[in-house]
Amino acid sequence: MRIAVIGQGYVGLTITVGALSAGHEVLGVDHSESVVKNLMSGLSHIEGIRDSEISSGVESGKYTVVNSYDLVDGSDVVVIAVPTPLTALGQPDLSLLKSASSSLGKVLRSSCLIINESTSHPGTLREVIKPLVDAGNNLGHQYAISPERVDPGNAKFGTRNTPRIVGGLSDEARDAAVAFYRTFCDEVVPVSSAEVAEAAKLFENTFRFINIGLVNEFSQIMGAMGIPVDEVLKAAGTKPYGFMPFHPNVGIGGHCIPVDPLYLQARAAEFGLTSKYIAVSEEVNHAMPKYMVERLADECGGLKGKKVLVVGVSYKADIADTRETPAEPFVKHLREFGAEVSWHDPIVNSWNGETSSPIEGEYDVAVVLVAHSALNMEGWNGEPIFTINSHPKFPQWKPLLSARPKS
Ligand SMILES: NC(=O)c1ccc[n+]([C@@H]2O[C@H](COP(=O)([O-])OP(=O)(O)OC[C@H]3O[C@@H](n4cnc5c(N)ncnc54)[C@H](O)[C@@H]3O)[C@@H](O)[C@H]2O)c1
Repeated sequence: MRIAVIGQGYVGLTITVGALSAGHEVLGVDHSESVVKNLMSGLSHIEGIRDSEISSGVESGKYTVVNSYDLVDGSDVVVIAVPTPLTALGQPDLSLLKSASSSLGKVLRSSCLIINESTSHPGTLREVIKPLVDAGNNLGHQYAISPERVDPGNAKFGTRNTPRIVGGLSDEARDAAVAFYRTFCDEVVPVSSAEVAEAAKLFENTFRFINIGLVNEFSQIMGAMGIPVDEVLKAAGTKPYGFMPFHPNVGIGGHCIPVDPLYLQARAAEFGLTSKYIAVSEEVNHAMPKYMVERLADECGGLKGKKVLVVGVSYKADIADTRETPAEPFVKHLREFGAEVSWHDPIVNSWNGETSSPIEGEYDVAVVLVAHSALNMEGWNGEPIFTINSHPKFPQWKPLLSARPKS
């Protein structure tokens, strides 16, 4: 089959590689000149996707990347994988999804199967994407949805072995999408409507968001009681049923967990409803960076004038993605507490217009938010190194969430 994949980022490139592995031809479309240039030079910009997976596609002629939609017409399947972030006011921002849909409407001259993989609220495929594509030229396209579950950097679960939910605006569309995904996914789960698939994705990530909020709040209660939260969670985790471990942290980050529950919340508001669980978890999770700065200030006898090195500013280990990273509010609060802040990250070279500082500077304290595999603290010559949780590889670093001594 000839597949067009709109957006060549974490999700789009993952699906591109999956489709190439099944022998399909793939046309990647991405607005970013640098993404197009790198991919056409055989270079992957996504962790977990090897250069060789890209270069072999380009060299065989089966994979091409362009920055215009002009060549999309004639595709059997068009997969949309563009960002769905939040606006500055925390509301769903569908502008990129809308512009991708309108662009498709303008170029398509023959009918095809259009699948949305971008995360959004129930009703997006039916009420937003389809009308915008059909406004260009109503050709009787089939519309389906398969919300992406990729977990960047996860070596155990990838495209092939992560079950994939598929819904459609018609049974025919859903069945065509199921047949497409079965060419490179082991398990495809058809559901009765597009809205079921869209809602399932939001519920999966809301479930994590709320449980992370619960454990973040619990860690603060344990801290006040002087009980080591990590040991409590380890003990609770020995229960073989009815319990799933979540871990407290400096906050939540990335393009999914902090964002998706707010899509559900915004959609619920259109029905006059509010999820109290989302609201309270949002409050707790967003309060964590400040709480962690307070814990650090306690440990250091105040932060005024202290030179603090924040280590690891992306949202998770071995991933360079800084979207929604909790390092941002953490640094902001450190500065409010009077600290002089620098940051170091071996895989994020520039962030917020600043560049990564070397480990070998004059600092009073280092706080490791994310310990990438590439992190090397050998040049560190300051005093303590703190982490958020205890780190199995670095037992000598002091975890800030461990219990305060009872006084
Ligand atoms: N990153 C994840 O781990 C993850 C996991 C599951 C689902 N998702 C969802 O998948 C969607 C895509 O996220 P991502 O992480 O792949 O984003 P990304 O930023 O990594 O990649 C998106 C790409 O789309 C391009 N783009 C933006 N607008 C475009 C347009 N109108 N036309 C063509 N190209 C365009 C950008 O240049 C970028 O390269 C989002 O809805 C996200 O919530 C992401």
